[in-house]
Parts: sequence; C-alpha cells; structure tokens
Amino acid sequence: MLATAAAKKIYRNCIEDYLDRHGTSIENDTYDVLVISGGMGEGHIPTIALTEMIRLVKPGGCVCIIMRQEYLTYVAEYTDRLEPCMDQLVDLGWWKREERTVVSNYAFGKPGVVFVYRVNRCGAPPVTCLTFKQ
Ligand SMILES: C[S@@+](CC[C@H](N)C(=O)[O-])C[C@H]1O[C@@H](n2cnc3c(N)ncnc32)[C@H](O)[C@@H]1O
Repeated sequence: MLATAAAKKIYRNCIEDYLDRHGTSIENDTYDVLVISGGMGEGHIPTIALTEMIRLVKPGGCVCIIMRQEYLTYVAEYTDRLEPCMDQLVDLGWWKREERTVVSNYAFGKPGVVFVYRVNRCGAPPVTCLTFKQ
C-alpha cells in the first residue's frame, strides 16, 4: 500500500504507523486535511486516536472520517464512546463539527457515515480531559 502511494510521486512523506494511544513521529499541526476512509472498524483505529488526529491537523484544517454506520452500534470500541468523545472534543473547543452525513451503499450495500470536523486549536487535547469510558 505504501509502495503504491510512493509510486504516485505526489506525496512528500509516506509514513507507515498506527493511529492509537501512542503519538506518531509527525510534528504537531502538520496537515490541512486528514482523511480516515475504512480505518474505523473492529480492532482498527481506537476512539482515543481522535486526539492524535487533532494534533496532526493545523488549526483551520479538517478531519474527515468515513466509516460503516453499523460499527457505531456494535463495535464495542465505538458504541457509546466514539460520538461522545467527538462531542466532548467539541465542548472543549478542540474542534467544530461541520458535517455528519449518513450515505447509502457505502460498503457491501450498507450505509456509511461521514464525519467532518474543523480543528480549532494547536497541538493535542490532553487525554486526561476526556471522560468517555477509556
Ligand atoms: C478495511 S481496510 C481499508 C483499507 C482502505 N482504506 C480502503 O478503504 O480500501 C482497514 C485499514 O485500516 C488500517 N488500520 C487498522 N488499524 C489501524 C490503526 N490503528 N492505525 C492506522 N491504520 C489502521 C489497516 O492497516 C487497513 O489498511
């Protein structure tokens, strides 16, 4: 996958890493847009990684997450966690919700949900400020 991306010769940096509780080596406020497409699922990117997504995006930039809608209801990592955490990050002023759109036929004929958030602040939200079930 990384070799395919590098072969396009349009990316300055191609980095293989996980989005999770650890911080990547990427500097704060690096990107204008961060897109997660198909990365949210059972055993995939955990809720806590929202803090790393915010850290990587410049104030004024966007985080866009596209995922199967059904994962919000039965993936334990997201049920009663992902959207409450997104909302709490809004309440704390880290980002603002621009969009939450349900789209039909996203994958395997099932609906998806598109979240778009605009980042407000530099750096990363401290994990300790989040009260969702960690
Ligand atoms: C279902 S595949 C989707 C691949 C591609 N985005 C697509 O839509 O066709 C899920 C992808 O998420 C990646 N992934 C899973 N957990 C991850 C994590 N914690 N951080 C970054 N990527 C992760 C996997 O390596 C895999 O490439």
